[in-house]
Amino acid sequence: MVKITYLGHSGFLFDDGKYKLLIDPFLTGNPLAKASPEELKPDYLLLTHGHGDHIGDGLSIATSSGATVIAPYEIATYFENKGAKAHPMHIGGSFMFPFGEVTLTIAHHGSGMVEGDSILYMGNPVGFVVSLGGKRIYHAGDTGLFYDMKLIGELYPLDLALLPIGSNFTMGIREAIKATEFLKPKVAIPMHYDTFDVIKQDPKEFVEGIKGLSAKGIILGIGETYELG
Ligand code: NI
Ligand code: MN
Repeated sequence: MVKITYLGHSGFLFDDGKYKLLIDPFLTGNPLAKASPEELKPDYLLLTHGHGDHIGDGLSIATSSGATVIAPYEIATYFENKGAKAHPMHIGGSFMFPFGEVTLTIAHHGSGMVEGDSILYMGNPVGFVVSLGGKRIYHAGDTGLFYDMKLIGELYPLDLALLPIGSNFTMGIREAIKATEFLKPKVAIPMHYDTFDVIKQDPKEFVEGIKGLSAKGIILGIGETYELG
């Protein structure tokens, strides 16, 4: 069993009772976030790409909690240079961590990190397939729809898919419905919507749209926890 807590935007905490995994913790500056970075003490911090609404409070959380950062090579190296512990990976690769296996997938998006008036190169953006507590979860990161999602669903049978629905920067509802068809997860939870005006969406349209597919659609309120059993 894994507890999935939604922190808002693309931020989630996975907890199997032994290990806490935090993904894309955008709290400071997020108008909808409720949690404070200090209260999250993860064992591992997973970062999908270099944009500020995903790296978020990652550096302060990684350095204060001692969490190991799992990220694409460029981001992991950046974090190591800033004093965090990191495990670099890249697309297509898997590694067996003490909690379970992590695989990095493609994501069609950008990854530049804004620092002052320049943009740092942070490699390619990714999605994560994470095994934890006997469950397998796909966090798509920020991405457009891609046909290879079929392969992800075939190679790594999914209990849960976390999919962006906000459009403008990522897939919208129409594409996320098709992604659910490709991925065939048991449960699908929408993310990356409502945080800013340009990504306002009604998640009920997504849940309605995947009726008849393999997945049960669950809308998680910010701060809410879903037990994946
Ligand atoms: Ni992004
Ligand atoms: Mn984003």
